[in-house]
Amino acid sequence: QKKEAAYTIGFSQCVESDAWRKTMLEGMKRELTFHPNINFIYRQADGNSQKQVSQVKELLQKKIDLLIISPNEADPLTPVVEEAFSKGIPVIVVDRKISTPLYTAYVGGDNYAIGKMAGEYALHWLNGKGKIIEITGLPKSSPAMERHKGFTDALKNYPAIQIIHQVNGEWLNQTAKKEFAAIAPQYPDVNLVFAHNDMMAHGVYEVYKNSSHPQPAIIGVDGLPNAGMQFIAGKEITATMLYPTGGEEAIRIALKVLNKQDYVKENLLQTTVIDSTNVRIMELQAAKAISQQQQIERQLGMLKEQQRIYNNQRTFVYILVTS
Ligand code: FRU
Repeated sequence: QKKEAAYTIGFSQCVESDAWRKTMLEGMKRELTFHPNINFIYRQADGNSQKQVSQVKELLQKKIDLLIISPNEADPLTPVVEEAFSKGIPVIVVDRKISTPLYTAYVGGDNYAIGKMAGEYALHWLNGKGKIIEITGLPKSSPAMERHKGFTDALKNYPAIQIIHQVNGEWLNQTAKKEFAAIAPQYPDVNLVFAHNDMMAHGVYEVYKNSSHPQPAIIGVDGLPNAGMQFIAGKEITATMLYPTGGEEAIRIALKVLNKQDYVKENLLQTTVIDSTNVRIMELQAAKAISQQQQIERQLGMLKEQQRIYNNQRTFVYILVTS
C-alpha cells in the first residue's frame, strides 16, 4: 500500500470542558488512527473568542496544511478564518459557523432543523396551547441563532403558544441553572422549557428537583449516550434532539481536501428526536457502536503488532544473509 503523504492539520476548538466536545475530539482521533502520517495539532480556547483568534494565528504560524475550526462566536472568528483561507490554507468549519463564505467545507448538524423539530415536539406536547421559556446558547454563536429561528418558525402559526421569556444560558449548565432559578418564581405557570443543549436542560431540571413546584416539560439538544439519553431514561428531562458532533466526518473531509479528491462543501448531519418512547433503543444502538469501535481498535493493535514482528524478522533475515 502506498504511504500517505505527511500533512499537518491544526484543530481550533472553542471550548473543551463538556462531554460533547470531548466526544468530537475522540471521533477525530479515532479517524486519525487510520492516517498515521497526519500530524495533528490541537488547541482549545476555553470558550473565549479572543483566545481562539490568537490560537488560530499561532496555528497558522506553525505552517499547518489545513485548519479545522469550531468557532466560539461567528463574527469575532471570521477575519482570522478569512485570513487563513486567502493564504491558501483549506478551512473545514465544524458545528458552529462563521460569517463568510470563505471556507472550504462545513460539517455539522442542521441546527435550523433541530430548532424546528424541537418546536414541533413542543407543539405536540402542549396540544397547541401553552407557555414556553427558551434558554439559549451564546446568542452570537450560529447554533443558538439557528435553533432559535427554527423553534420560533415552528410555533409562529399557533397564537395560543407563547414564548414568555428568554434566558441566555451561554451553553453552560451552571449559567442556565443560575439564570433560570432567578426568573422561575415569576413564571409558575410555564408549561415547557426549551434549552438549546442538554447541559442547560439539566440545569433547569436541577432547579425543580429541589423545589416542591411541579416540573414543566424540558426539551434539550445533543442526545449523548452518557448525558442526554441518561437524563431521559432517568425521567429528568422530556426529550432531546440528537446533535452529532461531526468529529470523524471533519477528518474524512480534511483528508479528501488534502489528497485533492472530490468533496462536498456543505455537509449536514442527520438528526432525530429522542424521548421516553425510543431512548432504550437509542442507548442499545450507541452501546453497539462503541463495542464495534473497540473491536476495530483491537484489530488495529493486532495489525501493528504483526507489522512489528514482520519487520523484526526481516531485519533478522537480512543480518543472516549479510553476515
Ligand atoms: C458543546 C455545545 C453543545 C451544543 C454545541 C453548539 O460545547 O454547547 O452542547 O450543541 O456546543 O455549538
